[in-house]
Formats: sequence, C-alpha cells, structure tokens
Amino acid sequence: MIRTNIDIQHLNSFGLPCLAAGFCQVGSLQALTSICEDAGFKHSQRLILGGGSNVVLAGDFPGLVVQPDWHGIQIIDQDSQSVTVSAGASEVWHKLVIWSVEQGYYGLENLAAIPGWCGAAPMQNIGAYGAEFSDVCTSVSYIDLDTLSQHSLTSDQCQFDYRTSIFKKPTAQNWLVTGITLRLQRQGNLNLDYPGVAEMLQRQNIQQPAPADVAAVITAIRQQKLPDPEVLGNAGSFFKNPIVSTNTVDAIRALHPDMPHWATGNKIKLSAAWLIEQCGWKGHRKGPVGVHRDHALVLVHYGNGSGRQLLELADCIKQDVFEQFGIDLQPEPKIIQN
Ligand code: EPU
Repeated sequence: MIRTNIDIQHLNSFGLPCLAAGFCQVGSLQALTSICEDAGFKHSQRLILGGGSNVVLAGDFPGLVVQPDWHGIQIIDQDSQSVTVSAGASEVWHKLVIWSVEQGYYGLENLAAIPGWCGAAPMQNIGAYGAEFSDVCTSVSYIDLDTLSQHSLTSDQCQFDYRTSIFKKPTAQNWLVTGITLRLQRQGNLNLDYPGVAEMLQRQNIQQPAPADVAAVITAIRQQKLPDPEVLGNAGSFFKNPIVSTNTVDAIRALHPDMPHWATGNKIKLSAAWLIEQCGWKGHRKGPVGVHRDHALVLVHYGNGSGRQLLELADCIKQDVFEQFGIDLQPEPKIIQN
C-alpha cells in the first residue's frame, strides 16, 4: 500500500519538485491503522496532503505522505428552511459548490472556484468575496493518526478565524480530516457587496440572481485575476492580509493617504497585495519564481525552480514590506521544510 520514493510534484499546485520517501492513499480507519503500523514508517514524520493547493514543499520529504481518500456528497438532514450536507474530505471543493448551487441552495456561491479539496477548507477557513467556510460549517470529522481515534468537532470547537482554525495548530499536525458538514439555506440573502460582483451581474443584465449566477460571476472574476495553477504554478494568496491597530494605520496613512483598509472588529485589515505592490514587487521575476503581474499577492513558479527559491523570494518581499511599512506579513500556505 505504501509506495516508496514517489515524486509528488504533480500533487502540489505550485508544481514544486519533491520526492516523498513514502506515499499512500487511505480511505478507512482500518487502512490508516495498518499504514501507521508499517515497520518502515512507524516512527517517521507524516504529511497529510489533500489537493496540494495551499502548501509549499521546500524540499524532499523524508517521511510518509498520506493522501486522504474519503468521497461522497450527501444530504444528511433537512427541514423547510435548510439542508445539512456532508462531503468527504477528498471531494473537490468547487464540485461541492457547483452541486449546491445547482440544487438552488444558498451559502456556498461566494466560495466558487477556490482550488483544493473539501478537507482543506476548514484548515485555513477558506474565504472569498465576503464569505467564509465558517459561515456554513456545522462540524468537521477527523482521525488522529497518533491515537488512531475518530473525532468530530462542532463549528465552535473548530476555533475559526480569518484564514485559521484549530486544524492549523501544531497539536493538530497529525489530524487527518475525513469529512465536513455544512448547513445551507433553501432561501437566503445573496452577498453581493464585494467590489465587482454586483457590477458584473448588472453588466450581464441579471436582475434577480440565483446562487448559481453569483457562483458563475465569481468564477469569472477569479479567472480574470488569478492564474490557473494548471498553467502557472501558484497557491492563490501567498500572504494573509495583515490585521493591525488603528494607530498603525494612522501612522502609515500619514504618508500614504490612499492606502486601502477595512474595519474588522475593533482592528483594521490592510491589503497585503497593496503593500507588496508599493514595494515594487508586482510582476517581478526572480529566476524560476516571481510575483504575478496581475495580482501582487500571488507568488508563481514558472517551472524548474525549487521550494527554497520560492521561500527566498517570499523572505525578500517580507523584509521589504517590513522595512517600508513596519508590517510583518505572514504566509498563508502551509510550509513544509526539514
Ligand atoms: N490590490 C493591490 N494590488 C494588487 C491586487 C490588489 O493594491 O495587485 C489591492 C486593491 O486595493 C484591492 C485590494 O487589494 O482592492 C483587495 O484585492 P482583492 O479583492 O484581490 O483581494 P485580496 O485581499 O488580495 C482576498 C483573499 C483572496 C480572495 C479575495 C476576494 C486573503 C489572503 N486573500 O485577496 O483569497 O479571493 O480576497 O475575496 O484574504 C486565497 O486565499 O488564496 C485567495 C485568493
């Protein structure tokens, strides 16, 4: 079941070269148990890899890469207002979104065209166009590979926040998400507030949009702005948008009155893309890696590069933003280095 010395370059959306000492796909607790007891890998490091769209592989991986193989999308409960849907961790997220809007359900339309699998959605609490995974999540199930026990966390227990959750904590490193459940609405209010969404619907002369219309428009906007990982290696936003105090914002705005910023609770969210662009990095190429020409938050791999080169570029950007604005950018993808 475990294959050795497997190249997983095609399993990460950056297309970074990486040789995994061991690789396996597992779809049951029984299979996981035998894999965790395999003499060759019993004590080795493990990496749980889903769709590979939010990971930087900084070199070869000396341990065991485990790819979950849990499938199925089904309605598990419903009433006159809502439906509760479960999805296996290995279902492609966008496929779930399309299925839900085709049924006419509200809740996932703004999260269309986000790369990756359903099991990764809770990790970083995926979000876009004014919606977040946590808005619809009711529970997440996982298996702890250290104890080989199954668990389920309610949405509250998942500790969701902006691009983070309990699943990103070091204690959750060996938790393999097997499935998610979501509550979707039969009727709902569409969130069209994010710049560009209402405008595009209007341009298409859609007066009373359904969730499927919103999903289609958001897919089109994303395709315009973000490079397709099948064509140009990337992992979407490379840095989180920094959340800072009003004092920090006031100090920067004294010099840059046009800096975009948004209130979030009693703090302010800044645009990492804007900060990076101000430092002159947009469209800049450094050998096989670079910053996308249309979006400064997206680092790209042109091919024949390494995770290390990508991380060096990210460090240079981070340093420049810190020197110019005093803001410490934090990467969004999971960085795997040994
Ligand atoms: N901007 C620039 N330069 C750029 C791009 C953007 O200055 O090159 C400024 C503009 O002022 C723009 C603002 O940044 O109005 C916001 O840009 P955008 O709408 O593209 O959103 P973002 O903050 O860069 C976030 C998410 C994206 C998500 C979009 C849309 C994070 C880290 N990223 O990006 O998520 O698709 O909003 O909701 O929160 C991802 O996580 O991989 C991802 C793509």
